[in-house]
Amino acid sequence: MAKKLLRVLAGEALWPPPVWLMRQAGRYLPEYRELRAKAGNFLTLCTTPDLATEITLQPVRRFGFDAAILFSDILLLPWALGQDLSYVEGTGPVMSPLETQADLARLDPARAAARLGPVLETVHRVRGTLGEETLIGFAGAPFTVACYMIQGSGSKEWPKVRAMAWSQPELFDALIDLLVEQTIAFLAAQIEAGAEAVMLFDSWAGILAPSLFRAYVIAPTARIVAALRGRYPRVPVIGFPRKSGMLMLEYVRATGVQGVGMDTSIDAALAARKIAPEVAIQGNLDPELVVAGGARMAHETAELLASVKGRPFIFNLGHGVVPQTPVENVAALLAQVRAAA
Ligand code: CP3
Repeated sequence: MAKKLLRVLAGEALWPPPVWLMRQAGRYLPEYRELRAKAGNFLTLCTTPDLATEITLQPVRRFGFDAAILFSDILLLPWALGQDLSYVEGTGPVMSPLETQADLARLDPARAAARLGPVLETVHRVRGTLGEETLIGFAGAPFTVACYMIQGSGSKEWPKVRAMAWSQPELFDALIDLLVEQTIAFLAAQIEAGAEAVMLFDSWAGILAPSLFRAYVIAPTARIVAALRGRYPRVPVIGFPRKSGMLMLEYVRATGVQGVGMDTSIDAALAARKIAPEVAIQGNLDPELVVAGGARMAHETAELLASVKGRPFIFNLGHGVVPQTPVENVAALLAQVRAAA
């Protein structure tokens, strides 16, 4: 009997639905904060298999989620290719911005394969420990990874990224092409190491004009899905084109993903009607509602469950668990989903 998450990603409407949460490992867990303090630095956590394996398993052990997601970060790939990266307390990731063809030419795929070894070792170890839970591998989608590489740090509007996409299309296309190839190689390696499903995080997909969305979100994702499905036809791909609004429907049709993550702004009832019945939808409770908890959380959770019942659905949040989240609220949420009738 296949694992629950994989059955849903193969098109089955299981009830109660399987459940996991984006950022289910992280700062809201005291056991994470303890290891994080010991390691001193987030990049060390991600590249030390003992620590990354333990952190991946922490939320699964504590709550009994249906999936474990590899503990890593979407910026490990550009770091492995040679771009410098640090995580600054209170600011988030910081990189030296990629601005020229020469910057791009310095990135080195051979180095990436070597530097990502510890991440693949973590995948292997986690898979060896899991029982009925599905192991999800992941990467950033090319566009979102390019955002950080070009801007150099997080942003709301990403002005340098949109400027480069319109005014230096040759450089932008070359960067996206490199990231498509490297993302395929990295996800294939995760699958070989034991990942049973993979997710592509396109957190900034929603900032693009439609023509750029088609060129830099849909087309690269379609290439990655086609390459992986050609080699690993049984391994499903979940896409997460965050804040893409109405374009999410075209994304699902044109990329061939087996599942789609809905961000907090998506009306799940509408998505349930508009998205092909064999494609799993995943999401999308507001992470801030899990901070609030109580009757409001219970009510919205019941409404979400009612709106998707009868079609393939994976319960999740609309974005990652935030650090202020009380662990009791996560436990209450899980109990409610498990009791769904
Ligand atoms: O979900 C999981 O539990 C798996 C691990 C995971 C992390 N990041 C760990 C992390 C995953 C899947 C990601 C994806 C990721 N990383 C995305 C896409 C999803 C999203 O949130 O939109 C993005 C855009 C990043 C880049 C990134 N990494 C940012 C912007 C930050 C700083 C913001 C923050 O929350 O601190 C990180 C750091 C990061 N990645 C942390 C964790 C647990 C916090 C590290 C710490 O200080 O302990």
